[in-house]
Amino acid sequence: MSSIKKVIVVGSGIAALSFANTISDNCQVIIMTKKQFSSSNSMLAQGGIAAAFSAHDSVDQHVQDTLAAGCDHNDDKTVEEIVRLGKNLVDQLVEEGCPFDRNEAGMPQLGKEGAHTFHRILHAGGDQTGKTVVQFLKGKLGSHIHVYENHHVIDLLIHEGTCIGVVWKDEEGHVHTMTADAVVLSTGGCGSLYEINTNDPSVTGDGLMMAYRAGAQLVDLEFVQFHPTLLTIAGKAVGLVSEAVRGEDAYLEDESGRRIMKGIHPLGDLAPRDVVARTIFHEQQLGHSIDLNIQDIPHFSARFPAIDAMCQRAGVDTASGRLPVSPGMHFLMGGIKVNEHGETTVPSLFAIGEAACTGLHGANRLASNSLLEGLVLGSKAARRIEQLAVHQETIPSLSIQEIWSVPAMSEAQLRQWMTAYAAIVRDEKGLQTLLHELEHVSFQQTNVKNITNEQIELSNQWALASCIAKSALLRTESRGGHYRKDYPKRHDALWQGKQIVHEQGQIHIIKNERIGAKWNVYS
Ligand code: SIN
Repeated sequence: MSSIKKVIVVGSGIAALSFANTISDNCQVIIMTKKQFSSSNSMLAQGGIAAAFSAHDSVDQHVQDTLAAGCDHNDDKTVEEIVRLGKNLVDQLVEEGCPFDRNEAGMPQLGKEGAHTFHRILHAGGDQTGKTVVQFLKGKLGSHIHVYENHHVIDLLIHEGTCIGVVWKDEEGHVHTMTADAVVLSTGGCGSLYEINTNDPSVTGDGLMMAYRAGAQLVDLEFVQFHPTLLTIAGKAVGLVSEAVRGEDAYLEDESGRRIMKGIHPLGDLAPRDVVARTIFHEQQLGHSIDLNIQDIPHFSARFPAIDAMCQRAGVDTASGRLPVSPGMHFLMGGIKVNEHGETTVPSLFAIGEAACTGLHGANRLASNSLLEGLVLGSKAARRIEQLAVHQETIPSLSIQEIWSVPAMSEAQLRQWMTAYAAIVRDEKGLQTLLHELEHVSFQQTNVKNITNEQIELSNQWALASCIAKSALLRTESRGGHYRKDYPKRHDALWQGKQIVHEQGQIHIIKNERIGAKWNVYS
């Protein structure tokens, strides 16, 4: 038996890299990614990483802002821990020379985003924070970290309830297995379920459904975050226009120049994301076209070079001062339920990054808290796995799921249904229609040897769509990213601290005492 612990990490975003840079070289780490190393949502993150750096700011204030944005659905202890540890990890990145943008005094230049009390967003390359941090972390990987691109992990190997490895397909479609002492899912969320989204096309909910099939709990799937401002031309999303642009005084207006956020929320254009996205949606339903007015931002192209280049490619002249925008699916607050170490409810299976639900985000994520969470949870999962026992010598003969159900529909059809019935505004009728459509799709049984990677993704998306629809139907209230027009109010008496949990074909409502309790530091 080898005493070297072997860990498989699925995915290559910031959480995976934080994990890989933390774990000791007594462990051998295999990072498998189904496309290229750079195919992740982290690479696309524009705004930045939130951390309380300014003199007036504090970890406590950052905690309060996170709880307020999360609509009392956050796990209070997790929020405090991630925000506190995250600040230390960001400090460390700054000290190590991660090229964050700096001010004249040589300190990180801090931007502002929605629902933050202070300027606290570190950014890099203007609006290329994710890419810059990913490249920095990639450059630090040790020789015990091995990266395999085009390795599509399709399933988990489970023996006696414990995760012992993965099943993966190569580019030719051949099926392989690989065992490990622990598997870490860092596969992101499920932006591809919606017609307009900001995600990398490879983000198709695979990790969530692998975990689900393995018996892990999924929670909070009804909380889907729509980013308010995607550059949108003729109904087609071109790409994200960072909230940092509104942090530099851009504002939303309709075709007549009416400022649409006026009177809606005390924070105006920098209200929490769910509020802004819903307002734009509502205005669009009334027939208005919405623009982001950027005329008050000096040197736009220098501050936001990637957005400026995107506008140019799309034929939008930033000198006109107006960018046509629409909301688009951006982030899944729910995910694979994990504890503070990233452990799922299946032994030796971990989840980190957007795939995981730690309870940090509650019902609505505070802007720029996701890279922060990825850094912290990746690092904590690594420390936990270092303490685990090596179990590879006990691996029995392996059996894998041979037969897969592939729905007879296109990804475009699924997106159209999700966008129509489970997006920014939902109701019982629409969600029932969605479930009916999903349940009445015919499907074919396909052997794992013959199934294509695209069919696997579609099969996962189909199953996940149904879990989201069931969660959204059950939660008979509106909170954060889950808005029901038939239940437009928050209903604390019924729902405070309650979570909707999916587990192997079952759906339960549970009470989670760590959610929505009053944050006692301020009581
Ligand atoms: C943005 O730049 O607006 C996105 C930041 C985030 O999603 O946290």
